[in-house]
Amino acid sequence: SMRIGVLCSGGDSPGMNAAIRGAVLRGVDVHGFEMIGFVDGWRGFHEGEFVELDRPTVRGLSPLGGVFLGTSRVPPWEAPVTEAALAGLREKMAGYGLDGLMLIGGNGTQTVSSILADADFNVIGLPKTIDNDLAGTDYTFGFDTAVSIAAEAIDRLRTTGDSHRRCMVLEVMGRDAGWIALHAGMAGGAQAMLLPEYPESLDQVCAWVANVRDRGRSALIVVAEGFTLEGTDGAVTREGLDGFGRPRLGGIAELLAPLIEEKTGIETRATVLGHVQRGGSPTAFDRVLATRSGIAGADAVLANDWGKMAGLRGDRIEMVPLSDAVGKLKTVPEARYAEVRLNFG
Ligand code: F6P
Repeated sequence: SMRIGVLCSGGDSPGMNAAIRGAVLRGVDVHGFEMIGFVDGWRGFHEGEFVELDRPTVRGLSPLGGVFLGTSRVPPWEAPVTEAALAGLREKMAGYGLDGLMLIGGNGTQTVSSILADADFNVIGLPKTIDNDLAGTDYTFGFDTAVSIAAEAIDRLRTTGDSHRRCMVLEVMGRDAGWIALHAGMAGGAQAMLLPEYPESLDQVCAWVANVRDRGRSALIVVAEGFTLEGTDGAVTREGLDGFGRPRLGGIAELLAPLIEEKTGIETRATVLGHVQRGGSPTAFDRVLATRSGIAGADAVLANDWGKMAGLRGDRIEMVPLSDAVGKLKTVPEARYAEVRLNFG
């Protein structure tokens, strides 16, 4: 029978537990595989720390956030990858008696999956990231949960902001793509969403904020962590230094808020949502998507359909070649930005 190793890599994403559960219910119970899960991703793989996965191990996992196996950003090899490193991995896999690997991860992880697939390793990718910036799939599990948490934060900031006639700036995650800001901001009716893909000038941002005030309302701005003001390289902070002469470490919201206040005369507050977005129970949508991804991954193993990732295409999970999923980020297209801009200012 087949023996499959499951490994999670990169930042956690709500739904990872459900994905493992789906893969195990189908893989072990239906297809008769043996499955093991490495603890803390590649760390467990390197150090020989793993657990056997069976039905009792995954019982009740669907509603649980995080991932019970643990995840880490430990890499499979020291870049750049060498033949020797690949040979080392191959040897380890043989040592564990594995016929294949199921890799649960985002862009970084699936790039590794793709390199392994090109080197004739048996790999299947399960796409996860709250950022939703992975190509080859319509949505990644974890995104819907992050969006609902960010949307709730907007609703809450809205009432306190309105009471004090303040401009509220909410920073959400998204280094390279503004999907969370776009969806949460659209859901919450934010008066601007500032995305990494679309730099805007400080004058423009302040014009939107002032416009909202002129209409007798208080502005709520959502900014993705990777947004840069037009005309800066992103490294530029207000004075470059904090009050003690050290480089400023604050995020973009903490940079923007005082600038907006200074330029518009409107009292402004910054909130950085941070890892709250990645924590807690996944939404029903993410549980379903993750479970179906895991099931599709187990089916792909049975079919020897290696080198693929379980992507969502419309309402179907399809196995897409890893090479189609990596090497390019899925960013917010202009048409989607145009839709939300209708509500700016
Ligand atoms: O990729 C997921 C993500 O949450 C990004 O949105 C964010 O930039 C990053 O991970 C944060 O990384 P860490 O959890 O290592 O602080």
